[in-house]
Formats: sequence, structure tokens, C-alpha cells
Amino acid sequence: MEPHFRRVAIIGLGLIGASLAASLKRFGLAGHIVAFDGNGVSLKEGLEMGLIDSTAISARKASQGADLVVLAVPVLAMEAVFKDIKPVLDKEGVIVTDVGSVKCVVLDAATRVLGRLPGNLVPGHPIAGSERHGVTAADPNLFAHHKIILTPRLQTDGEATRRIREMWQAMDADVVEMDPEHHDTILAQTSHLPHLLAFALIDTLSQLGDTFELFEYAAGGFRDFSRIAASDPIMWRDVFATNSAPVLEILDRYMDDLGRLRQMIASGNLDDLANVFARSKAARDHFSRIIEQREIKRKSQ
Ligand SMILES: NC(=O)c1ccc[n+]([C@@H]2O[C@H](COP(=O)([O-])OP(=O)(O)OC[C@H]3O[C@@H](n4cnc5c(N)ncnc54)[C@H](O)[C@@H]3O)[C@@H](O)[C@H]2O)c1
Repeated sequence: MEPHFRRVAIIGLGLIGASLAASLKRFGLAGHIVAFDGNGVSLKEGLEMGLIDSTAISARKASQGADLVVLAVPVLAMEAVFKDIKPVLDKEGVIVTDVGSVKCVVLDAATRVLGRLPGNLVPGHPIAGSERHGVTAADPNLFAHHKIILTPRLQTDGEATRRIREMWQAMDADVVEMDPEHHDTILAQTSHLPHLLAFALIDTLSQLGDTFELFEYAAGGFRDFSRIAASDPIMWRDVFATNSAPVLEILDRYMDDLGRLRQMIASGNLDDLANVFARSKAARDHFSRIIEQREIKRKSQ
């Protein structure tokens, strides 16, 4: 069978770029994979691990002759890459996509570089990942049974969107489409805020003194909640730099609610405290049931 893409260029061979390379290989979706990364060691490791077929000395060189170019660099690095690959923006026969965690900023960066939104740019965000980073964390199954959000605009070429959707679906991912603005608001609430809370909690507690003791006696809940505080600082710096308005909106609301909880504890208002916990538990139990039902349905398919 013909591969989905003849030649794929991956710019940024970290956790997501390398996992995509591994998945493309595993599902036979790419004839040839060429990669460029600012870190030469990652490229060398990618070759040694058999994730990619060749390397390039720049994003521009990698994109030459590719029919798919994937930007998998931190969000603030996207604009420099768009500048470098400008000759393939809106070029016939080439599709450009990205995996950035914030979407409006990626569309804005590409628009600044080309002077208009490139019709061949299909913005995407795999809702899959981990606190690990770098090429050695590559996982060919990372995207299976995870959501991929595509955020095309009206100007986006429908055929390009269809091909990107089919690529992810061939990796067993569940593809949905939404407006980039809606994406950034939802992700601020479900991903960016929780990461900020985990970073803040670990930072606060680790300044109290004996960090060894802290982790030694940590129960499962603390481990679960704090795991994401080990995430890559640069990637997350870029997320908060580029999605500040939706993040600040939900952060303010959360801080107000936290302030109310503080007041209930300080004044011994135990009934109100228990009511908040009960409401929260009901919402979480409902969510757990939905996840369980989805899992049963997935296994029966
Ligand atoms: N980690 C996650 O859980 C996750 C999930 C979904 C989406 N994303 C998004 O995927 C993208 C990549 O994240 P990651 O987790 O793979 O990070 P990573 O740190 O593992 O990899 C990023 C790679 O990009 C390279 N890089 C940085 N600037 C570059 C440039 N200008 N040119 C070429 N290479 C450059 C780095 O050397 C590194 O190898 C980010 O935009 C992130 O928001 C991450």
C-alpha cells in the first residue's frame, strides 16, 4: 500500500516529534522521514533509534521536497521555523501542520510570516503527552485512543485537513475539530491551570525544608497530582506566555474559590466546606463513569 505521505519533515525531534515519527513508521504512513532539531544530539539519537531516515541542517532544508512538514517545537519557537520554511507555506502539494499546545499564537505567527494565513497549514494539538521530554521518550503508541484537536480556519484547505485527520486516525487517535479560540480557552482550564497548580505546589512545599521527607511520606494522591510538575519548563513557559488571557481568567476564578475555602476553614464553617467537597466529588464521580463507559466501548470495538 502507498504510504500516506511520501516524505515527512519533522522540525523538533522531542517527545512529540519523535513519537510522531515512531507512529508514522509503526503504521507505515511515511515513505521517508527527515528531521531537523536545534539539538544535534537528538538527531543522532533519532537516527540510531531508527525513528527517522535522515537529518537536515535546517528546517528549510528538511522541508524541501517534503509533502508533509510537522512543526513540533515549543510554541514560542514556531515563528522562527515558519520564517525558515516560508517557501513551502501555501506551496502546492505540501501540507504543513503543528502540534503546539496553544493554537491562536501559531495561526498568528504563520500569518505574520506569510502576510496571510497559509491555506496549507492545518493546526493541530494531540491531547497526549507526558512529563517526559526529548527524543528518548518517544512512544509509538502515544497518540492511540487519545484526542487530537485540529483548529482549521475557513481559509484552511479542506483537502489538507482531511489528510491530516486521516493520518491521526490511522494511528488510532480520535480527531475532533474546534475554533482555535475555543481550544485555547478549554485547554487553559483543563491543562494549563492544573500544570500551574502542580508547579506552584511542588515549589512551595520544596522550599519548606526537607524535600526527601516530603516525597518519602507522599501518598498516592500527592504523587498523582505532583507528577506533572516534572514537565519541561521551556515548553510550559511558552504555553503561559502565549495563552495568558484565558489562563488569567480561570486562575482568578480559582483563586477566588480557594479564598472562599480558606475562609470556611478559618471560620470553622464545616457544613459549607463539606458541601463544596460533596459537589466536587459528585462532578468527579460523574466524569469517572463517563471515562469507564468510553473505555468499555473502546475495548468492545
Ligand atoms: N509534552 C507534552 O505533553 C505535549 C503534548 C502535546 C503537545 N505538545 C507540544 O508539542 C511541542 C513539542 O513539545 P515536546 O513535549 O515534544 O518538547 P521537547 O522538549 O521534548 O521537544 C522539543 C524539541 O524542539 C527542539 N527545538 C526547540 N527549538 C527549536 C528550533 N527553533 N528549531 C528546531 N528545533 C527546536 C528542541 O531541541 C527539542 O528537541 C510543543 O509545542 C508543545 O506545546 C507537548
